[in-house]
Formats: sequence, C-alpha cells, structure tokens
Amino acid sequence: MSELLINEIRETLASARSQFEYLSDLGIESQTAALPDANKDQQCTANAGLVESLDTIREELGDCQRCGLAASRAKLVYGVGNPNARLVLVGEAPGREEDLKGEPFIGEAGQLLDRILLAMGMQREEVYICNVLKCRPPNNRDPQPEEVATCEAFLIRQIAAIRPQVIIGLGRFAVHSLLKSRTPISRLRGEWQEYQGIPLMPTYHPAYLLRNPEGKRDVWEDMKEVLRLLSAEGDGS
Ligand code: URA
Ligand code: URA
Repeated sequence: MSELLINEIRETLASARSQFEYLSDLGIESQTAALPDANKDQQCTANAGLVESLDTIREELGDCQRCGLAASRAKLVYGVGNPNARLVLVGEAPGREEDLKGEPFIGEAGQLLDRILLAMGMQREEVYICNVLKCRPPNNRDPQPEEVATCEAFLIRQIAAIRPQVIIGLGRFAVHSLLKSRTPISRLRGEWQEYQGIPLMPTYHPAYLLRNPEGKRDVWEDMKEVLRLLSAEGDGS
C-alpha cells in the first residue's frame, strides 16, 4: 500500500475518532454530521489579480507598531490556513502560547477547536483561522476599542482576500467586536448574522467550553447550521 494511501486512511480514522469523541462528550450516540467535500484546494480563484492577496496584507502589516500592543507582544499572530477557505473562524486575540509561536489557537482552547473542526469533517489546514486582534494584550486583558479599530482594518482586508462562504465568530468578545453589538452571546449564538456581506454564525468560544462543557451541545447545534449552509452553497467549483 502506498504511503500516501496509508496516511489518508490514518487521517480518516483520526477524524472519525475525533468526531466520535466530541459527539460522545455531548452524549450523542450516532454520528449525524453531514461531511462536506473535504477537498477544496482547487477552489476557483477567478478573483485572483483583482483582490489583494493575504501575503500582500501581511507584508503591509510588517513589524506593526500601529497600537500599544506592539511593545509587549512577542510575535504578531496574523492567521493560518487555506487562502481559498470556504470557512473562516475569528477569535478574540492571541494568548500566551499563540504570542510565542505566532500562530492562532494552538493552546488548550485551540486543541478543542481542532476537535470541533474534525467533528465537522474538516481539517485545520482546510479552513482559515485568525483573530480580531493580531497581538496579545498584556495578561490577556480585554482588548481596547482603539486597538480593535486599528486592527480590524486588516481583518476586513483578509476576509475580502479569502471571500469565504461562512464566518464563525468565536466567543463574546469577537462577536461583539465584529457585529458592533452588545447583545449577550447566549442570545446571539445560533442565529445567522452578517459580516462584510458574508453569513456569520456566532458561537461560544472554545475556552468558554473548557470551563463550561455543557455549552458544547449548543456549539454543535451552531456547527450543524454552518455545515448545512456550506453544503447548500456547494464548493463553488
Ligand atoms: N483565544 C483566542 O481567541 N484566540 C487565539 O488565537 C487563542 C486563544
Ligand atoms: N462568555 C464569553 O466571554 N464567551 C463565550 O463564548 C461565552 C460566554
């Protein structure tokens, strides 16, 4: 058997196991997830050339000094994943581990996020993951409005470059910043909103789920809505 095939089988098994674990955490016995087509790499890039690329935006950020967070950050956390992703996930801001590595959602909350994605039949590499703020606030304090205002201009451009079919807003802070809303996250979650003309599903933050595992069932309901919309939209090819 070729190594490629063995790896593929291994990944499929890992994905099935993760989905099973996340669902069984919820007390859900049977697997109900609709698995969308996993291979979006060849997604049409007809807009290439008209829209600036993620690399161009990253270059412009450079060694960003546009707000006070530059003084205390280790690394700027731009975002990772597929530049043609159909799904973009937006969190709040880098934490300690993310700040050290320069990559979003790699700590404990990030590992739970990976399991949620796998339960949806998706690999982390297939989606795009970023935050409202690109630099860690000291001691993870709440981001300030002027920090959000400065940084959001770049997030808007990243989303315009990717043009995903769906955005997931992770947690109260990200959702309030993106939607300019003050409605409690417990009321916003599960209801479609819009950001930059793209459907946005607000849901709880994985760090919140670590402290409140009973919220996982609601998040799974929200993820099923996301899968429904993605499968209704097709893969665009
Ligand atoms: N929490 C977030 O909101 N974003 C990260 O990147 C990590 C933790
Ligand atoms: N409170 C938060 O700050 N975030 C959540 O996701 C849920 C409750």
